Amino acid sequence: MKIADYKATLSFSNGQPGIEMPVYKGSIGPDVIDIRKLYGQTGMFTYDPGFLSTASCQSAITYIDGDKGELLYRGHPIEQLATQCDFLETCHLLLYGELPNAQKKTEFTSLVTNHTMVHEQMQFFLRGFRRDAHPMAVLTGLIGGLSAFYHDSTDINNAAHREIAAIRLIAKLPTLVAMAFKYSIGQPFMYPKNDLNYAGNFLRMMFGNPCEEYKVNPVLERALDRIFILHADHEQNASTSTVRLCGSSGTNPFAAIAAGVACLWGPAHGGANEACLNMLEDIQKMGGVAKVGEFMSQVKDKNSNVKLMGFGHRVYKNYDPRAKLMQETCNEVLLELGLENDPLFKLAKALEKIALEDDYFVSRKLYPNVDFYSGIVQRAIGIPVNLFTGIFALARTVGWIAQLNEMIGDPEYKIGRPRQLFTGAERREVLALNKR
Ligand code: CMC
Repeated sequence: MKIADYKATLSFSNGQPGIEMPVYKGSIGPDVIDIRKLYGQTGMFTYDPGFLSTASCQSAITYIDGDKGELLYRGHPIEQLATQCDFLETCHLLLYGELPNAQKKTEFTSLVTNHTMVHEQMQFFLRGFRRDAHPMAVLTGLIGGLSAFYHDSTDINNAAHREIAAIRLIAKLPTLVAMAFKYSIGQPFMYPKNDLNYAGNFLRMMFGNPCEEYKVNPVLERALDRIFILHADHEQNASTSTVRLCGSSGTNPFAAIAAGVACLWGPAHGGANEACLNMLEDIQKMGGVAKVGEFMSQVKDKNSNVKLMGFGHRVYKNYDPRAKLMQETCNEVLLELGLENDPLFKLAKALEKIALEDDYFVSRKLYPNVDFYSGIVQRAIGIPVNLFTGIFALARTVGWIAQLNEMIGDPEYKIGRPRQLFTGAERREVLALNKR
C-alpha cells in the first residue's frame, strides 16, 4: 500500500474544524481514503450500508475491473487461467501467490489428493439430517462440523494449522458435497479414488456406484474443472467478507468457512444459479420463448419484485468475463451430450438477446453474470438444481481460505466491528407491568 502524494480534506458547514486524511494507492484500481482516525478526531462515523464505497481490507489476491469486465487472480486474467490451467493450479495460485511449476504442481496435487477422504464418523453425522434437507443446510452443518473432527488444525493463529486446514477443506469439499447428494437419493457413499483428478474424482463420487466401473467423460470433467476455476475467488463479496469477519474473532477456519457457505446460500449471491434455473423452468412452463416478452414486462415493472436472475452485478457494469467462458462451456457440454436443442438453453439465449438490447438493462448496465449459464451446464451434467450452490461453495472454498489466511497474516488485522447510526428510542424507564 503506497501513500499517495495528495490528501483528502473533510470540511463541515457547521464551523467544526475540518480534517485531513491520508490517501493510499493500490497497484491498480481506485485510491482509498484512510478514515481510521475520523472518529477519534471528529466523534463521527461514516455511513455506508451495503459497503458501496468502503474498502474493508487491503488484499493482493483478486482484482476486478467492473467497467472493463476484467477479472484477475493474482494478476492472471481469468480467460487464460480457464483455458491454460486446471483447478488445482488455480488453488495453488490463490493460496501461495504463484502458479506452480511442474514439480510443485505434482507435490500440491498429491498433497490435496491425500486428504480427500473424510473421517468415517462424518457419515453418521450426515445421517442425522432428513433426506430431503437442502444441501446447503447439510453443507453448512458438515463443514462447521469438520472442526469437531480435526482438532489438530483449528488454531487460526498457528501457520501450520492454517496450512493443513486449507488443504483439508479443498480436498474434502468434493467428498462432502457428493456425500450430501448420495444421501439425498439413498445411494451408498462413494469413497474418493485418488488416481482420478479433482473434477474427475468428484464426478465419480457423484454419479458412480459401487456395482460398476465409472468412466469419466473428459468433456464433462473439463467443464466442471472450469466451473471450479471461474468460481474460485471474487474478492470481497458478501460470503468472503463474512468469512473474514467471522475469522477476525479468531474462530477456527472450518467455522469461518461454514459461515461463508451460509452467506453464499442467499439468492442474491451464490443461490442465484439455482434461482436462475428455476426462473428458466418457470418461463418454460408458461410457454417458453413465446412468453419472454411478457416475462420481461414483469421484470421491468417496479412493483412486481421479479428480477432477471443471472443478470446484474454489484461490481461488473459490463459483461461478466466468467459468463462468456461459461457460455462456451455450455455449448461444449450440450454438444457432447447431444442436447444442442435444449429448450432452456434456447430460452436463456433469447432472454439474453432481448435484455442486451433493452433500454432498461442497457441504461442500468445490467449484463449476464456467471450464474446465467452455469445452471444449464450443471443440469446437463446431471447435478440437481438444489446442489448448484453447493458446487459454488466447493469451488469458492479456496478463495475463502486464501482470503482468511491473508487477513490473519496482515499486521493491521483487527477483529471486525462495524459501528451504527442509531435511530431507536432514547433512554426511557421500564414501567411496571400494570402501567404499560
Ligand atoms: N433484474 C432486473 N432489474 C435489476 C436486476 C435484475 N437482475 N439487477 C439489478 N436491477 C435493477 C435494480 O432494480 C435497480 O433499478 P433502479 O435503479 O431502477 O432501482 C438497478 O438495476 C440497480 O440494481 P441494484 O439492486 O441497486 O444493484 P446491486 O449492486 O445492489 O445488486 C445484484 C446486484 C447482483 C444483487 C442484482 O443485480 C441482482 O439481484 N441480480 C439478480 C441476482 C443474481 O444474478 N445474482 C448473482 C450475482 S453474480 C454471482 C456472485 O458473484 O455471487
